[in-house]
Amino acid sequence: MKINGFLKDVLGSSRVVKARRELIKSGSETAVFRDPINDVARELHPDVTHVKVTKVEDVSPTARKYTFEADQGDILPPFQCGQYVSIDLQIGDTLTTRPYSICSAPFEARTGEHPFFEITVRNGKPGTGYVSCWFYENVKAGDTFTAHLPFGQFYYEPLRDSHNVVALAGGSGITPFYSMAKEIEHGTLDINLTILYGSVSTKDIILEKQLKAVKSDKVRFINVISGDEAYDGEKGFLTAELIKKYSEGDTTYFVCGPLAMYHFVKGELDKLDVPSKRIRMEVFGAPRDITAAEGYPQDFNPQTFRLHVMRGIQEDIIEASSLEPFAVALERAGIKNRTRCRSGACGYCRCQVLDGDVFVPAEGDGRRMADKEFGFVHACSAYPLTECTIRIPIL
Ligand SMILES: Cc1cc2nc3c(=O)[nH]c(=O)nc-3n(C[C@H](O)[C@H](O)[C@H](O)COP(=O)(O)OP(=O)(O)OC[C@H]3O[C@@H](n4cnc5c(N)ncnc54)[C@H](O)[C@@H]3O)c2cc1C
Ligand code: FES
Repeated sequence: MKINGFLKDVLGSSRVVKARRELIKSGSETAVFRDPINDVARELHPDVTHVKVTKVEDVSPTARKYTFEADQGDILPPFQCGQYVSIDLQIGDTLTTRPYSICSAPFEARTGEHPFFEITVRNGKPGTGYVSCWFYENVKAGDTFTAHLPFGQFYYEPLRDSHNVVALAGGSGITPFYSMAKEIEHGTLDINLTILYGSVSTKDIILEKQLKAVKSDKVRFINVISGDEAYDGEKGFLTAELIKKYSEGDTTYFVCGPLAMYHFVKGELDKLDVPSKRIRMEVFGAPRDITAAEGYPQDFNPQTFRLHVMRGIQEDIIEASSLEPFAVALERAGIKNRTRCRSGACGYCRCQVLDGDVFVPAEGDGRRMADKEFGFVHACSAYPLTECTIRIPIL
C-alpha cells in the first residue's frame, strides 16, 4: 500500500466523502434493497417449490416412478445425485411429509424443454405403510404438491470419495444409484459405479429395466437374489466375499436400504477392514418398532400420554403414543411442524423438551452436544416415556 503522507490522505478521504454524497443524490427516491448473494441462495435452495406430477410409470410389480415438473412459474433447484426431496402431503386431516431419494439425474432438471425430477415410491404393506400405500394408490398425473429439495449428504464428493464406488442397495434404496448411473451415462459424473442390489426374489427388483438400459462402461449393475436357489446369477446376501469380488482398488462404499441391511452390511465391510471414511450410509427413516431399539427401557409398557405443546404462550394438550415420535403426535393433532429427513439427522424438526422423559434411539440421534445439554430433541426421533411438555416453533 502506498502511503502519501498524512495531509494527502486526509484530503483524499474528503474527496471520497464528496463522491459518495453525489452518488446518493443521483440515486433513486425509493429504497431498493437487493442482496445478490441471498438471491442466488434462494434460487439454489428455495424453501418450497411448487411441482406437478406429469407421468406415473410402474417400475416393478410394487413400485411406481413419478415424474414432476415445476408448477406456478417456479424453477427446479439444482441437486446432486443421491439427494432427496421432502414432499408435503395432506392425507385426510393430517399434514405430513416424507423424504424420497431423487432417482432421475441432475442434468434432467436443468436441460430440455420440460426440466423434471423423478422419485420412485414402493408400495407399503397394508396396515403399516401409511403414506406409501396412499401415495402408490392415489397420486396421478396432474396432481400438485409442494416439495422441499434438495436435501441430504449422500452424494459423491471427489475431494472425499474414491473414484471407484460400490453401491450396496436393498429395496427402494436402489433409487439414488439410478440417478448416479444416468448422470455417469450423460458424462457429467466421472466415477466407476458398481451396483450390488440385494432382493429376496426377482419380483422385488425395482427399476431393473431402466438400470439395464444405461449405456456406460463405467456402470455395472448386478442383482443379488437371496430367496431363490434356482436364480441364475449372484445368490445370497451382500457378503464380504461378494463385495470383495466386485471391488477394485481404493473404493468408497455407498449403502442405501432398510435398517436391517445396514447392520449386516456394516459387519461385512468391517470384515474387509474398510475404513469408516470409505463408507457412506444414507439415513433410513424412523425405526419400524422403537421398542426393539438398543437402549429402549426393557420393562416399559406401551401407553398414550398427554403431550403439552407450547407455541409462544399458546398451549395445546394432545395425545402422544410412546410408540411414535413427537412429530407424528403433532401431525395426528393437526399441529404444523417442519420435518424433512424424518430420521433424526437434519435438525429441521428440532424442539425443546421442557418437562418429561423421552427416548432418543442412538441410530437416530443427530443432535449437537449443546442441544443435548439444553434439552433439545429432534421431534421425528424422540419418543415420550412420560407425560411431556415441549416447545415448538410458531409456524
Ligand atoms: C432419505 C430417505 C430417502 C428415501 N427414499 C425413498 C425412495 O426413494 N422410495 C421409497 O419408496 N421410500 C423412500 N424412503 C422411505 C419413505 O420416506 C417412507 O418412509 C416410505 O414411503 C414409507 O412411508 P410410510 O408412511 O408408508 O411408512 P413410515 O414412513 O414408516 O411411516 C409410518 C408411520 O406413520 C405414522 N402414521 C400412521 N398413521 C398416521 C396418521 N394418521 N397420521 C400421522 N402419522 C401416521 C405412524 O407413526 C407409522 O408408524 C426414503 C426415506 C429416507 C429417509
Ligand atoms: S426431520 Fe430431520 S431431524 Fe427430524
